[in-house]
This record gives sequence, C-alpha cells and structure tokens, in this order.
Amino acid sequence: MKATIAVLAGDGVGKEIVPEAVKILEAVGERFHHHFEFVSGDVGGQAIDSVGEPLPRATLELAKRSDAVLLGAVGGPNWEGLEYRLRPERALLGLREQLGLFANLRPAKLYPMLADASTLKREVVEGIDLLVVRELTGGIYFGKPKGIEKIPGGERGINTEVYTTDEITRIAKVAFEAARKRRRRVTSVDKANVLESSELWRRVVIQVHKDYPDTELSHMYVDNCAMQLIRYPRQFDVLVTSNLFGDILSDEAAMLTGSIGMLPSASLGSHTGLYEPIHGSAPDIAGQSIANPIATIASAAMMLAYSFHLEKEAEAVEQAIVKSLEDGYRTKDISSPGTTLVGTKAMGDAILKNLLN
Ligand code: IPM
Ligand code: MG
Repeated sequence: MKATIAVLAGDGVGKEIVPEAVKILEAVGERFHHHFEFVSGDVGGQAIDSVGEPLPRATLELAKRSDAVLLGAVGGPNWEGLEYRLRPERALLGLREQLGLFANLRPAKLYPMLADASTLKREVVEGIDLLVVRELTGGIYFGKPKGIEKIPGGERGINTEVYTTDEITRIAKVAFEAARKRRRRVTSVDKANVLESSELWRRVVIQVHKDYPDTELSHMYVDNCAMQLIRYPRQFDVLVTSNLFGDILSDEAAMLTGSIGMLPSASLGSHTGLYEPIHGSAPDIAGQSIANPIATIASAAMMLAYSFHLEKEAEAVEQAIVKSLEDGYRTKDISSPGTTLVGTKAMGDAILKNLLN
C-alpha cells in the first residue's frame, strides 16, 4: 500500500523520539513492501518560534491531506507566559477539532518484565491490560461560554461542560466496538451524582448498550475510578469517559505500567488519524537523548493497525518492542538493576534490529 504520513515532531523530546518511530515505519515499509511518504511540518512552540503561531495553516493542510499524522509533543517553559490562544497546546486542540478526532484510545498494558518499574506493588499491577476511550472534541475543553471576564472587584473565569446525545452516542459506540475485540467489559466513568451533563452521559451510554448485548456495562463515578485504578486495576477492560476525566485518568493509568514513556495513543475521527505518545515534551530531560521512544514507536504501531489496517505489521512492531525489552534494553525511566541502560537512539536501534530479524 501507499500512504502519506505527516510528521509533526514539535517540542522538547518530540524531536528525539519521533525520528525513532519514523525509522521503524520506514523499516516496516521495506520489510512488508509498503510505500510510506513522510512529510514534516511545524507544530507547537517550535512553530511559534519559526512562523509565529502554534498551528500554522500549512501544517493543518498537511495534516488534512495526509493519511495519518505522527506527532511528538508540544509545549515547554519557553512558551508558558504566552496568551492562551498562542500557546503550543492550542496546536493539539486545533488539530483534534479540525480533523474531527473525537475518539482517543489510550491502551495501558503492563509489559511483564517491567512490573518492578511501577511505583505500585507488583501484585497490584501484574496483568493489567486496559483501554481508556476518551471523548476528545467535546466537554469542558471546547464548551461555551468560556473565557475570563472582569467583574466588580476582580475577574471571573468560565468553562462549560457540555455534551449532546450524538457526541455521547458516537464515543460509546467506539467503546463497545473496542470491547468486542477484547474482554467485552465497558466501564463508563462519570460524575452523574453531581453533574447534569454526566446524567445525560449515563442515560445515553445505557441506551447505546442495548445494541451491544454481548458486552457488559457498568458505571463508576470518577472519584471512585481514580481510587480503583490504583487499588485493583485488573478489574478494568475498557473505560469510556469524557474529555477532562479521560485526560486525568489516562495519566494515572499510564503510571501503572511503570512509565508514562511507554504509552501510545490514537485519536480517530472520520478520516485522518493522529498518533502520539501520551506523555508531553518533558523539558526536564529534553536534549539529552535519554527519552524513551517506546510510546511513540507503539503509537506508530497503532497507526499501522487503525489507519492502514496493517495488523500483521503492527504486531511485528509490538513484538520487536517486547523482544528488545526481553533482551534487557532499558531507557532511564524504566531501568532497573541487571538491565542495559541505553539512550533514545540505541533503544530505537534495538527495536529496529528485532523488527528486521
Ligand atoms: C493530553 C494532554 C493535552 C490534553 C494537553 C497537552 C492539551 O494532556 O493529550 O492528554 O489536555 O488533552
Ligand atoms: Mg493529558
């Protein structure tokens, strides 16, 4: 097959990890005879510095005409003081909105050899394999009214949590469909004891579930879910939730697996999908070539599976990651006594070698 992939490395460690994933995709192309064309674009803080805005029109157009987008990370201390609409993060929100990427899939799976890298006890994290399905273009991230306004004696900051039947229906379907390919259990996470938008969320999810009688549905309040995730994470298969709750819970889920440097994500809509590690630009370690490229390489594997329907190729990449971990290679974030500490590039090379073997 032939595909055009927009490569938006962005800021901080993004510039170091994305080339490793491109290297892997190129190797997949060679080994399985596909033609991937890579076209780079500016995004985030780096785009602010070079063209004056976080999501230049050229980048948006590139993303729209590509078959998939591979993104590194955006943001960093250099741009923190900027006006809200000029912050690097706006690029990500703009891409999600403009590409209609309403479904964000964040799988959290523990690689068995990393059980001791988690800050939680081995017996808690062993065997976890869950998928957070996060609604990505609605909720409080995009709801109106929003803004900061002057009031007598100060200011007032406003954001609005809002969901419509259609928005809830389509994300619930994604969750049930995903569950059918897994252990067929969906937990819908809300705050229906307090929020009306959550009350509607719960009602609609129950309605959609009627078309999926072969799956099991349960509901959980978000505060309890945050607690259950670190108490007994094995109970979860698919979690489906709103934009804000999904943002928070997916970071928590990531940490169960040892390092946030391990978790990939896919953002899907109607056409172009976007693939990125769930971690950020990590300014504290940027420029040292020590960042873990696995989350980005695993995101590339998700691209192969979800955007290109190349399941065999995706599986080959995942196996190469597992094999490299079995060979003992570890970046700093997941290292432990008796393993081989490597940098970003050497980890990418190890995975490449296992992919080509
Ligand atoms: C994420 C990030 C983004 C979000 C930020 C960078 C805008 O935290 O993808 O989880 O809040 O969605
Ligand atoms: Mg987040």
